[in-house]
Amino acid sequence: MTAQTNGAPTPYLHKQGTATQLIVDGAPFLILGGELHNSSSSNLEYMQPIWQRMCDMHFNTVLAAVSWELIEPDEGRFDFTLVDGLLRDARSHGLRLILLWFGSWKNGQSSYIPLWVKRDTARFPRAQIAGRTAEILSTLAEANWQADARAFAALMNHVRAVDSEQRTVIMVQVENEVGTLGDTRDHSELAEQAFAQPVPQELVTYLIKHRDLLGTELRSSWENAGARQNGTWAELFGTGPATDEFFMAWQYARYVDHVAIAGKEAYNIPLFVNAWLSHQQPEHIPGDWPSGGPLPHVLDLWLAGAPQIDILTPDIYAPNFEEWCQRYTRRGNPLFIPEMRRTEDGARHVFYAIGQHDAIGTSPFAVDSLPDPANAPLARSYAALQQVAPLILAHQGQGTMAGFLLDLEHPMVKRQLGGYELEIVLDAVFVFKSEIGYGLIIATGPDTFVGVGSGFKVTFRPLTPGPAIVGIAAVDEGEYRDGTWVAERRMNGDENAQGVAWRFSNQSISIQHCSVYRYE
Ligand code: DGJ
Repeated sequence: MTAQTNGAPTPYLHKQGTATQLIVDGAPFLILGGELHNSSSSNLEYMQPIWQRMCDMHFNTVLAAVSWELIEPDEGRFDFTLVDGLLRDARSHGLRLILLWFGSWKNGQSSYIPLWVKRDTARFPRAQIAGRTAEILSTLAEANWQADARAFAALMNHVRAVDSEQRTVIMVQVENEVGTLGDTRDHSELAEQAFAQPVPQELVTYLIKHRDLLGTELRSSWENAGARQNGTWAELFGTGPATDEFFMAWQYARYVDHVAIAGKEAYNIPLFVNAWLSHQQPEHIPGDWPSGGPLPHVLDLWLAGAPQIDILTPDIYAPNFEEWCQRYTRRGNPLFIPEMRRTEDGARHVFYAIGQHDAIGTSPFAVDSLPDPANAPLARSYAALQQVAPLILAHQGQGTMAGFLLDLEHPMVKRQLGGYELEIVLDAVFVFKSEIGYGLIIATGPDTFVGVGSGFKVTFRPLTPGPAIVGIAAVDEGEYRDGTWVAERRMNGDENAQGVAWRFSNQSISIQHCSVYRYE
């Protein structure tokens, strides 16, 4: 459901081919975003110099925290001065906002809950972790989610009242990196009772209905225990850390879904949750990472338990960026990356996420403290992507776009596009060698391609009947000015290996058009 205001709908998600797009002001939108440090948006004055820096880096969206403690300092008394100021200043800089709801949990802890919640441990029960009462709200207490949901609904209601005409806020993140740290699960009295109860029937029904789609870990635990249709958590999935994590994933998902329902009733725009990723060393167990967070191996439990959450998202600081992107696109989950590295690596990774996985957008973390923002690697990536964004959006979900990352260990990839197999290889042009290559390529029409990136070359092999040899007809480097292609250098000679390959120097990020022809 979308609200119609001022002629344009509120932001919503929409399918185009195999992709899910974020529609803003009635048109697809590519988030070229950055997330602020946690405390930056708690003070409007502190934010003043930051806004322009965000524009200098070619961001179109800023991800900023809104905390429960600051909007509801006393129970039932709400103060939205900060939210109003963030909206005002984002608008005056032509930026969109994604608000991050730091409610019951932030990085598994409850540091952002108001003092009136912190103090009242009888009314707002805590989790028992590693034998101690933790300063962390338990997922199992109804009073906890009800208080959070009331505050979140008040926030969303306020955003609707002040923003549904201008639509500065385009999505909202519910909580931040939820999960139980330091133990595999909550052991509070409420949690012990729930763990000993039968697994809720709605979850069992979901497992039965989606059996063939379930992830390996969940499905094999269930099937190894006999694929039972009723029983306790231990009876359905066995005993051990994995079952504890399934239990916590379900509890967090249900809690977050209650909060999300209240928010969407107030203002229906896309909501997502983010995950602190798990470790992959065999000695690590849930609790070393937040147990129950929206991780790929418990994705099915989140899909079952939190249907009001539109996207499950990864915070990818790990080096195996491509693998995490792939794991988060299971079961039709769209890719959006609210946190990732702001470094040169991050600046390359955005091409892969957007080009290869039709990402709704990307958002490196801590962008407000990047030194020399206008010349940061990320700013150079976004400057190029901003120009090509309309083309990217037009080609999402059509099978006509590919993204790639190359390095010395992985110097070549193959992609099938526009009736050709493209062999994409590390390349330098004029310097001795290239150690890094990255980019995205779009098949824009018969025998025509647009490429953006650095440090690679492309050769073509036909996949359709006809002449076997592919020649380069023409390569032009250029730029998109206000959406219109302006060709600049004709790239012949060394720049296309004397007509043999389509090449991107590793000295800059360039945008090039390439056309090919076939002969025998
Ligand atoms: C991930 C969290 O989601 C952020 O809020 C922040 O704490 C970063 N980690 C710090 O690296």
